[in-house]
Formats: sequence, structure tokens, C-alpha cells
Amino acid sequence: MECIEITGGRRLCGEVQVSGAKNAALPLIAATLLMPGRHALRNVPRLRDVTTIATLLEGFGVAITRQDETLFLDTRHLRHAEAPYDLVRTMRASILVLGPLLARLGRARVSLPGGCAIGARPVDQHLKGLAAMGAEIALRHGYIEASASRLRGVHFTFDIATVTGTENLLMAAALAEGTTVLENAAREPEVQNLAAGLRRMGCAIEGDGTPRLCIEGRRELRELDIDIIPDRVEAGTLLIAAAITGGTVTVRGCRAEHLGALLEKLEATGARLACGHDGVSVTAPERLRPVDITTLPYPGFPTDLQAQAMALLSLAAGDSVITETVFENRLLHTAELRRMGANIRVDGRTACVRGVPRLEGATVMATDLRASACLVLAGLAAANSTRVLRVYHLDRGYERLDEKLAKLGADIRRVRIPQGY
Ligand code: EPZ
Repeated sequence: MECIEITGGRRLCGEVQVSGAKNAALPLIAATLLMPGRHALRNVPRLRDVTTIATLLEGFGVAITRQDETLFLDTRHLRHAEAPYDLVRTMRASILVLGPLLARLGRARVSLPGGCAIGARPVDQHLKGLAAMGAEIALRHGYIEASASRLRGVHFTFDIATVTGTENLLMAAALAEGTTVLENAAREPEVQNLAAGLRRMGCAIEGDGTPRLCIEGRRELRELDIDIIPDRVEAGTLLIAAAITGGTVTVRGCRAEHLGALLEKLEATGARLACGHDGVSVTAPERLRPVDITTLPYPGFPTDLQAQAMALLSLAAGDSVITETVFENRLLHTAELRRMGANIRVDGRTACVRGVPRLEGATVMATDLRASACLVLAGLAAANSTRVLRVYHLDRGYERLDEKLAKLGADIRRVRIPQGY
């Protein structure tokens, strides 16, 4: 078993390259199921979640090879369409194979993804939308059993903006008969990357990036060859790492237009930013000013950067109020931050963060992917040594984050520890 050990207090300086976006790669990998062919996805990050969905597709009969940052997928010979519990429970995003399998094969059996640390994570909107498109949906023994001779276009309004819900229905609509209109659809850049991929495959899609998507279904699609967009959450995490250590860092390859809400908040803390065609640079202020943050669907402040921002604001000169509106239980990292000396009071979905002059290193436990990043950032700024346990959470969504931080000057390393520590 591994943990990450950090000796804090070093200012980060230099340049770092952002990887491809996990949350864009996963739906685009699933989209290759729509069409028997040989597909190429470029700029695919090397992450545990990518390995998990690749294993899932290989179980269906997809042949997958990697050459550098490109993933080649041969989806001409699907043997079956069952996504087993033991894989789905390790990654909820496995639900993304439901729409494409149902659209291509007319049937799919996918384990219901359980909840996770941050919330119940229901998939009712996915199922409601597919049923509206003519699918027969049954829930048996913890599995979703879906069938449809051919899905038909529908005018569907989501009860709540859902990223993977929008992505599942987008993919299903690509092979449906007629036109599908999705209202209250998610607008995230990762959804837009999927829409661009489906367009490459021959779909007529309008409205990507808006809450109203219109998709003309096709009987046949083309092979997919597309670049995965840069990971805005990794980029934001690296920018916050610079700000929390009082450093100056340039994150190469990220797109400022995908980071608007975070950049506004970083500027409000007093950080100085420079946005160029190939990335964003940040210089930390002498003393961080407090700011209030409310997470919202894109283009609002991303819930996936809330924990990292809380680590930063734990050291601001004053009180910040952070409200998490997307997930019902995404403040688990506050308990571990308090063990490092942070002064945070939680009331429901709101955390009142009173900045302290310094954090103390400690052994802390990651509860979920972004909480693990938050604790790493806190460790970078804390006095003495911090050990972040359960680093497998981090490796689900960050490509060698410890190595990238070390290259920027952090005193950080992976350490093997006894099992069950
Ligand atoms: C995606 O999850 C991301 N994952 C999450 O990133 C991200 O935090 C989330 O969107 C919000 O931006 C991937 O893209 C693989 P939602 P998703 O459906 O699609 C409720 C990370 O750290 N809801 O947009 O599962 C839900 O409970 C991960 O990289 C329903 O009620 O999130 C939540 O309150 C974590 N019914 C809200 O909608 C549904 O059928 C938004 O969830 C679906 C969702």
C-alpha cells in the first residue's frame, strides 16, 4: 500500500503540463461502442479510472491498445453487453456504457452504480430519459436491464442538470430514429468534447455548451478520431498549489475559458494571473484575501475544485463561506483539514472557513478523489510533514500529481506502508 509524504513550506515555481481530462475521456471511450470500427482517442490521461473503463470494454470484446497518449479501440466484435458489479462499484462513471450499448445492440445489463462518499449519486435521470426514448427498463438484483428494438427521438427535459446523464442520452440519441431535444442539459466542456466527438462520427448536433441540445439520430456512424480536451480540474488544482505555497507557476496546455469561475476567485484572493494561448500563470499574493464560493453546474464554480479551494482559504486573512450545492455530502475533507489546524465550522452544505496563519503537518485520510487533492495541497503549505493515506483515490483522477508537484519544487514522495495502515 502507498501513501504520499510531504514536507511543507516550499514555494512552487516553474512550468507544468496539464494532462487530458478524465471526465472527457470516459464518455468518449464509451462512445466508441456506438459504432463497430477502429477508433483513436488522443491525449488520453494515464489514470486508474481510464484503466477501469478500458477493462470494462475489453470484457465486452473491445480490443484496446495504447501508443503514448493515444488509445486505439477496435469495437467491431462485441461479445456481450453486461457491465458487472465488481467493476461498476469501483467507478460510477461505468454507467456511461448503458446508452451506447442499448443504442447499438438493443440491450444492456449494467450494475446499478452504488453511491459513494460524496453522495447517493442516483441515475434516475439516465433511466427516465432512456425510457422516454422507448427503452424497456427493469431493475433486477442490483442491475439495470434495458432493451429497445430501436430508440426513438424524444423531447426530454432533465429534472436536474446532470453531466453523465446528459452524456448517456446524447450517445443514445446518436443512433435513435429522428430528432432528440434535451432541455436543462449539462453545459460542461467535457459534454462539449463528447458532442464534438459524436459530430465527428457523423451526428448532427446543435446547442453544445447550452442547456438545449438537438441531435439528429443516424442509422450508421463513422469511426471516431478525436483529441481529449485538457483537464480543467487538474489545471485548477495545480494553480491552487502555486497559490497556497506562495509560488509562481505556469500550467501549460490548459484553457483559461474553461476555468473562468476559478480564475475569478483566485484573483479575488489577491493572486495575479496571466492567461496566454497555451496556458495560465499564477503568482500568489503575500497574504491571501478570503472569498466566498458557491459551487454550481458549469460555468459556475466547479464542485470538483471546492475541496482544493477550501485548503487554500484555510490560510486566508479572514472568513470565507463555501457552499456546496451540487452534492449532498462533499465536505468530508473539512474534518481532516481541522486535524491540520484549520478553523472550519460546517452547517449542512455550508462551511465557514476562518483563516489561520499556518497549518500543521499530520497523517490524514483521503475519503474521495478531490478530497485527496485537497489534503496534498494542505500538506504543501503545512509546517513539518504530512502523510496522505489511501492515495488510490488520488490516482483515479490525477496523472502522477506527486511527480508534477515535485518538478515544481515540492518536497513530496510516495512511500510504501504496511497493508491496512
Ligand atoms: C460528473 O459526475 C463528474 N464525473 C463528477 O466528477 C462531477 O463532480 C459531477 O459531474 C458534477 O460536475 C464524470 O464526469 C465522470 P451529475 P455525475 O450527474 O455525472 C444529481 C470527479 O471528481 N443526479 O452531474 O455523476 C446528483 O446526485 C467526479 O471527477 C440525480 O439526482 O454528476 C448530483 O446531486 C466526482 N439524478 C447532481 O445531480 C441523476 O440521474 C449532479 O450530478 C443524475 C444526477
